[in-house]
Amino acid sequence: MVFWIGVGILLFLVVVFWLGYAYREASRIHIEHLTLYTDGIKQGLSIMHLSDLHLFGNMSSARLRRIQDVIRENLEKPVDFVFLTGDLIDKNSGIDVLGEKILPLLRAEGGLFAVLGNHDYFEYNVLHVFSPLFFLHEKKSTDVERLLRVLRDGGVRVLRNEVVPMTYKGNSLTLVGVDNFLQGRYSWPDIQIPEDDSYKMVLAHFPDVIHHIKGRVDVVFSGHTHGGQITVWGYPVTAKAKIRRREARGASIHDTTVLYVSKGVGVSHYLPLRFFAHPDVTLIRIEVADEKK
Ligand SMILES: [Fe+2]
Repeated sequence: MVFWIGVGILLFLVVVFWLGYAYREASRIHIEHLTLYTDGIKQGLSIMHLSDLHLFGNMSSARLRRIQDVIRENLEKPVDFVFLTGDLIDKNSGIDVLGEKILPLLRAEGGLFAVLGNHDYFEYNVLHVFSPLFFLHEKKSTDVERLLRVLRDGGVRVLRNEVVPMTYKGNSLTLVGVDNFLQGRYSWPDIQIPEDDSYKMVLAHFPDVIHHIKGRVDVVFSGHTHGGQITVWGYPVTAKAKIRRREARGASIHDTTVLYVSKGVGVSHYLPLRFFAHPDVTLIRIEVADEKK
């Protein structure tokens, strides 16, 4: 009897310790660095990639401060672009947090660009985690129009299935933004990728888009997976997307296209835990291939 009480206490302590660790990890934002080399540009580019902020009104103030500090510190040195790849909010109340606490910190010479993710369209709760059991449980829509207004007022251009050609620093660039891919049940929206020699960058919340555009663009920046969020010492148990689990975080190559999946900055309010999938902000350098050492 005493033995089993001992085992019970030990298990309880392990669970409490694990929860404490996973809760703390969810606020420990790391800076990831990614350098891509290409002969598709003439002058190097720098990008800050933020994904899955999952902002909401009563989120932990310490976590919000940490997000602000990381953005502030890493934008001291100007970047060319800031890319936001969806799940900017977790609840409607996150729209104000985004507009008041985050957007004023963002600046980039070439512009701020965003695409929306599934959480920007719907408020989820814990029942949706077990969606096979609660598939009839309705999701509450967010105020997307207001979110779009706040983003626009904050200087962010939201790409909703859009192709934006531009010349920047002598580089011929094409920016493609894929709107919430899940809405179309993973079918490719009506986006025509130009067949020119511009350097093509795609922003898409869902990494699944890679199956539709690999070999036709240079790089895809995405999020959604949270790097597996709760992993087996870094190996995602689920990719939350139709990609291989080991491709659910970081960079992978698909034909000639690089897919980069950010682990994201935040977490959903109903599961504020991460295990060996720390949040990240990614600083990207795209360099001229000749400069490769
Ligand atoms: Fe997310």
